[in-house]
Amino acid sequence: MQTLWMDMTAGIQAEDMEKAGQILKDGGLVAFPTETVYGLGGNGLDAGAAQKIYAAKGRPSDNPLIIHIAQWEDLVPITSHIPEKAKVLADAFWPGPLTMILPKSDLVPMETTGGLNTVAVRMPGHKAALELIRAGGGYIAAPSANTSGRPSPTTAAHVREDLDGKIDAIIDGGEVGIGLESTIVDLTEEVPVILRPGYISAQMLSEVIGEVRMDRAFVSADPSIRPKAPGMKYRHYAPKAQLQIVEGPEEKVVETINELAANAAAQGQLVGIIATDATKERYENAIIRSAGDRTDDITIAAHLYGLLREFDELGVSEIYSEALDTPRLGQAIMNRLIKAAGHRILQV
Ligand code: TXA
Ligand code: MG
Repeated sequence: MQTLWMDMTAGIQAEDMEKAGQILKDGGLVAFPTETVYGLGGNGLDAGAAQKIYAAKGRPSDNPLIIHIAQWEDLVPITSHIPEKAKVLADAFWPGPLTMILPKSDLVPMETTGGLNTVAVRMPGHKAALELIRAGGGYIAAPSANTSGRPSPTTAAHVREDLDGKIDAIIDGGEVGIGLESTIVDLTEEVPVILRPGYISAQMLSEVIGEVRMDRAFVSADPSIRPKAPGMKYRHYAPKAQLQIVEGPEEKVVETINELAANAAAQGQLVGIIATDATKERYENAIIRSAGDRTDDITIAAHLYGLLREFDELGVSEIYSEALDTPRLGQAIMNRLIKAAGHRILQV
């Protein structure tokens, strides 16, 4: 299949947008930018499109998709009940990086929800995404536009690396703003539960809807606890290299990573190190990249997936990373990093 490349970095191209919308209506797949990561879109009400998405990504079909909408009213036909808290959250955070889990209506095929009776819905805060949803009929199912198991794409070039020749079109809207997937909150429980941490923090949610809980699966260090979001159980966000996180006081972390890097290099391995601005000059024997300034979690979040992909491209086989537990987005960032590391964390 020839994948069309639609350059919209300088602004939305109306003709291409219309063509992309038609591809979606005809059951095809279009990758598009959002404010979080790039999504791989297909018609969310079409079982066949959902199956194509799973095939293109190599994703297990029990892992449900998020339906993207462009206006609040469109929530009604795809849900069987809308709790008051959903309205409050939408008023506060939509369009934006928040996904809500709600009971689904019969309009949504089981293929889209991976066999669940609930549906994940999000209204993205990105102009091109909203226009594509409208042009495509209003309901676009979209997982992150990566091959299953690889880090989520934060540029259209990342999408092309993984999906060129497997999907109908890629809309290039430049680099995304946030760089981590949306916060997922389950509103089917009495007390809403955060299933995946993201840019919208627990505190931001509880400021508008009161008490929220965290899914135990990502608060606990025990990887055997089963998360409620099916996708959270996979070794996800993963680079090809082995990743190890080293956590502790800065001095000790730098010393330990340098020892590990020297050992791996002596065995002929190509080593990558994820440092921060304050420490990057103190490492050696490796390809060293700073994720950013430790106090600037926006930058660290935006860089993380791109760094993991860059190390893959350079053929790195061992990556050592500092723990990036920054004050505000730390939970969301560490959730991704810990999974990329397959829970390999060394405390020093
Ligand atoms: O920021 C985002 O959310 C991006 C952009 C493209 O919007 N999308 C994204 O989709 O990250 P994906 O498919 O990579 O992740 C969706 C997550 C998976 O962990 C999935 O298991 C969970 O949402 N999920 C979807 N529907 C669910 C449901 N009904 N109940 C529980 N978890 C659900
Ligand atoms: Mg994903």
